[in-house]
Amino acid sequence: MIPTPHIDLNDKDLIAKTVLMPGDPLRAKYIADTFLTKVVQINNVRNMWGYTGFFGKKKVTVMGSGMGMPSIGIYSYELFKFYDVEKIIRIGSCGAYSSELKLYDVVLATEAYSESSYAKTMGVSSRKILSANKALNNKIIKAAEKLSIPLHLSTIHSSDVFYRLNHEEFKEIHQKYGANAVEMESFALFANAKALGKKAACLLTVSDSLVTHEATSALERQEAFTKMMEVALHSI
Ligand code: HPA
Repeated sequence: MIPTPHIDLNDKDLIAKTVLMPGDPLRAKYIADTFLTKVVQINNVRNMWGYTGFFGKKKVTVMGSGMGMPSIGIYSYELFKFYDVEKIIRIGSCGAYSSELKLYDVVLATEAYSESSYAKTMGVSSRKILSANKALNNKIIKAAEKLSIPLHLSTIHSSDVFYRLNHEEFKEIHQKYGANAVEMESFALFANAKALGKKAACLLTVSDSLVTHEATSALERQEAFTKMMEVALHSI
């Protein structure tokens, strides 16, 4: 069933078996421009631009997921189910729930906790905590060691809400579930991987802290994110 409603491609070979998914499509372009050779731009119907190219000998696609679980849920499902993608590594930003995480630290999600009904509604799990793929995570850990980039392994919180009124509630989630960072996509990505027998992982760079209220600028973020991108690319 291709093209799918959200990915307008008639040829599966335009998409690699491994996909890196930043939230922002411009970041997908940045990765393609900076790290890949023989790049082909692939478009889909919502301008969630994607690019397929080579990192060394490895064919890889980079495509924006959009923000939030519904958005990554749609794109990653269609990639896994209809374009035969085997692995998706999300590369995104996160807010720190712990004073141990500093701006620009790189976090590898071991599990995602969420209040979201995504996994239950799709019928894959009634659990509120879903795991990243361990084999994929081990490859990411090895790549980070080789590049001497420290990784913080942690449970993360996949939230539906960016601007919450009761700001201090994060402390409870941090304590109760051991989530040291918050983002908005991984739980749906992990649910799709579980539903379809595929592999998913999530690397994050700390862009702000709910503890210290520090935040990064867009330009600083761009540069810091290259560390995480290199880890992801070297892991494939
Ligand atoms: N909340 C949710 N998602 C995020 C945040 C945050 O503070 N920072 C980066 N992604």
